[in-house]
Amino acid sequence: MGATHLLTIDDLSAADIDELMRLTDSFVEVSERRIPKVPALRGRTVAFLFYEDSTRTRLSFETAAKRLSADTMNFSVGSSSVSKGESLRDTVQTIQAMGVDGIVLRHKSAGAPKLITQWTDGSVINAGDGWHAHPTQALLDTYTLRQQRGSLTGMRIAIVGDIKHSRVARSNAAAFTKMGAKVTFVAPKTLLPSSLEPWDVTVAHSIDDVIDEVDVLYMLRMQMERQERSPVPSLREYTRQFGLTAQRFQRLNDDVLVMHPGPMNRGVEIAADVPDSVNGLVTDQVRNGVAVRMAVLFKLFSTTSDPSFSKPTIAAPAGA
Ligand code: NCD
Repeated sequence: MGATHLLTIDDLSAADIDELMRLTDSFVEVSERRIPKVPALRGRTVAFLFYEDSTRTRLSFETAAKRLSADTMNFSVGSSSVSKGESLRDTVQTIQAMGVDGIVLRHKSAGAPKLITQWTDGSVINAGDGWHAHPTQALLDTYTLRQQRGSLTGMRIAIVGDIKHSRVARSNAAAFTKMGAKVTFVAPKTLLPSSLEPWDVTVAHSIDDVIDEVDVLYMLRMQMERQERSPVPSLREYTRQFGLTAQRFQRLNDDVLVMHPGPMNRGVEIAADVPDSVNGLVTDQVRNGVAVRMAVLFKLFSTTSDPSFSKPTIAAPAGA
């Protein structure tokens, strides 16, 4: 990764992703130790700015930073001066003045992470901006598939549901195709982006058209909070046409992998028991998320700060 920031998957070549995947292998190993902590980023400070709700992404980044021994600064919109009208720029400059090496930003506006790169000397990592991008989710999903099958080359992946409002769909399609997979977006027309030009994907309008021909079903939540008008007649109707129902699950080949970025609406896009079945990778996705984010933090800090971190310092701490 030549860049100082991670804003979208476009910042990375296939070789960069491969390198991050290999680095992630090391951090998976670290995470399995009795004391899953290494001193690699000791003395570094990372600030987390979350302007949008998040459970797993925020906890995952925080765990990753702590396992690398970085100091963390947490900023919650509800309890900060944002509620007093402070601008994003003033907030970033305030944090910058306190001395941070990096900022992890989640924001409802597409492009916010790129915008703040002007106001900070540190690395900026996009933890999700509007409908636009969620690169670390794409990396952890790529890693999870690679862990299952060794490589994504030739893998047939259907991303099913509310593609239009999903930054996960956009970043995942970019990462999966870059790594050699064939991606199909499965959605009603009302839930597809107006142009599919940026992606090398095919489109299907019913889950039944793809279900017998895929290696992976990647299910998405209906992002109600981003929808202006209801894009489907009813959720029940949506489930009937696009949900991974128990009946459809019965029909799946035994080795089809089922993924979901969370938060899940069990019973809507995915039948209640499917995520916990042997085909379900949801727990692997969450577990790998920490190691992938360790790799990203490590990689960015090692190129932007002290060069002595350019080689992984991932030996076990004394006594571990
Ligand atoms: C997603 C997000 O916030 O973009 N969740 C996540 O980060 N794991 C998807 C969603 O909100 O549905």
